[in-house]
Amino acid sequence: MSLKSKMMIPRLATIKRKSVQFDQSGGPTHNLALYLKAKTPEIVNLSHNVNPTSKRRREHQVVQSLCSKMAGIVEEIEDEHLKHLFDNKDVINVYNLDVVNLSAGAPGPDLLKRCIPLFMQATVHRMEKEQEHAYLFQYGITSGLWEYREQLSQFLTKRYSEQVNRADLVLTCGAAHGLVLIIDTFLPRNAVIFVEDVTYMIALEAFRQFPSMKVVPVPQTSEGVDTEALNIIASEEKSKGSWELTENKLFWAIFYTIPIFHNPTGLTMSQNCCESLVRVARKLDLAVVRDDVYNLLYYGDSDSPPRRLFSYDRGTEGFRGGHVISNGTFSKIMAPGVRVGWLEVAPRLALVLRNSYELFLRSGILKSGGAVNQYMSGVITSILELGLEDKHLDFLVHTCKERMQAVCDTLDQFLPSYCSFTRPEGGYFVWLRLPESVDANRLAKWCQDKYKVAAIPGSRFSVKQGFKNYLRLAIAFHQVEILTEATKNLCLGIQDYVGNKCK
Ligand SMILES: Cc1ncc(COP(=O)(O)O)c(C=O)c1O
Repeated sequence: MSLKSKMMIPRLATIKRKSVQFDQSGGPTHNLALYLKAKTPEIVNLSHNVNPTSKRRREHQVVQSLCSKMAGIVEEIEDEHLKHLFDNKDVINVYNLDVVNLSAGAPGPDLLKRCIPLFMQATVHRMEKEQEHAYLFQYGITSGLWEYREQLSQFLTKRYSEQVNRADLVLTCGAAHGLVLIIDTFLPRNAVIFVEDVTYMIALEAFRQFPSMKVVPVPQTSEGVDTEALNIIASEEKSKGSWELTENKLFWAIFYTIPIFHNPTGLTMSQNCCESLVRVARKLDLAVVRDDVYNLLYYGDSDSPPRRLFSYDRGTEGFRGGHVISNGTFSKIMAPGVRVGWLEVAPRLALVLRNSYELFLRSGILKSGGAVNQYMSGVITSILELGLEDKHLDFLVHTCKERMQAVCDTLDQFLPSYCSFTRPEGGYFVWLRLPESVDANRLAKWCQDKYKVAAIPGSRFSVKQGFKNYLRLAIAFHQVEILTEATKNLCLGIQDYVGNKCK
């Protein structure tokens, strides 16, 4: 309930636990009722009883009833003692193995425990450096510690096998924060956000925080976004609207994507697709915001992970580039709890940054906040400097590769032939296609109850709640034995469900 609605009630009535005392001077009680009707769907029916011409006593009864219901609602808000994100009653507790939850896109406890000695060592290293000025405990530089960006650029250059420039990096609190920062900084209020047909479900939730912006889905192929469709759809949107672009609000639209080891499909955008996406972005002057969160979790045979879309947007003759923003994070390659990430801003934007005293300097959040997560970025700097992240990432790649293999091998063996999936070359997710007639929401419930295994139904990843016959499985949380058994149980559950429920 909003503060406003809480504050309105006492003018007419004082709410105590389960009882309401009215201010007998009365007032336009039906207005309150109508207000409550708009604010709280639960009391719509009651508020239908409100008739402005009815007798005052009757009005009071109705409002009393409404208010005690409201009081009930207030009383019902619980502050649960949750220990972790997946400990909520709406989400299956991923730490409780009574039902094996294959939903969590997060590293498991065995992987996170390995961070403890790393952080102990790095903290001591960093604290020694702080003895003189204790700068790390001071407000920080807006775009993030110089040493953090220097160490990060060296680490990324090595791991991507592509040049990453320190000057192009900006510290964030992780990719979710980076995404919101981009929208907030670069887009006008009525901007358009294009997304792939299925995409990271929490990005969709983040976009809803900007209700004046329009979210438009674009079809995908096995190679990535359908760039021809994007061209047509985005051209049409562009011709319909007008945008007030300024030196800050540079783009009328963004295309949000996860081109490498996509969430939820696990697929990687092809080179052709990357090239034509950059062409469309340049032609229509929209920014491509890419979550580069799984890139370094590459399980293939080549020496380096797939080439980043960012590198297709380098300045070329006649064009300075600058339509691609890379949004990275330590959440998947170290630990989500550290809340540290980075934006790699394309050359054209870097130039704008320099010419105008840094565009991000104008972000009130970054400037007044004195950078974000300054302390932790200092500890991460030491982790990078001491070479600890390199070793840790090698271990993560090795372990997650085994986990991905275990899930995919089990699917190969037990998945009914009327289902399909593509074995991803990296990342966290496997995207299962079920027969058209299967509603994965129901199937998931069935498997949870009868086969003690849970996964996320496809509709959660779709703007229009499509893709009902898909399931996403996540591989990083559980160890191989648990994953193997749970995946087998899921396959048996699918077979049982289709045999019994879809006849
Ligand atoms: C595609 C994608 N982007 C962003 C995030 C969140 O990243 P962070 O923890 O850095 O905010 C996730 C986490 O699941 C993700 O899958």
